Amino acid sequence: MSSQEVFDPYVLGIFCNWCSYAGADGAGTSRMQRPANLRIVRVMCGGRIDPQFVINAFMNGADGVMVSHCHPGDCHYVEGNLKTVRKMPILKRYLEQFGINPKRLKYIFVSASEGVVLTEIAREYSEVLKELGPSPIKGGN
Ligand code: FES
Repeated sequence: MSSQEVFDPYVLGIFCNWCSYAGADGAGTSRMQRPANLRIVRVMCGGRIDPQFVINAFMNGADGVMVSHCHPGDCHYVEGNLKTVRKMPILKRYLEQFGINPKRLKYIFVSASEGVVLTEIAREYSEVLKELGPSPIKGGN
């Protein structure tokens, strides 16, 4: 990339169906503009989000990964997301050990009615990633 080109980070979002995906969908329906570089994968519950999904995303070229699900206590499968609440902080430490800045993993709770919040967080996160630059493991490094 030349110094003239603007770095546009590739972001993978892994969102639970019932809250965060619904929030993103609602924001889209309301014509809110979120960064075009955010691609979203939907899973049925935050509890389904295996840390390996995040690692695979980085290994396959993501500059950042957003993991988002229902707020604790609001999971449609009762306590599925509580497992992820425990896993994500550990995953951040793990990423750091492999030279990936933990800021590259954005972990949030977004309900179906918080599309505005999600849009704003996605915008801010994209700016953080632009400052960080391309992922150090991008391209198999
Ligand atoms: Fe959203 Fe379980 S249904 S976290």
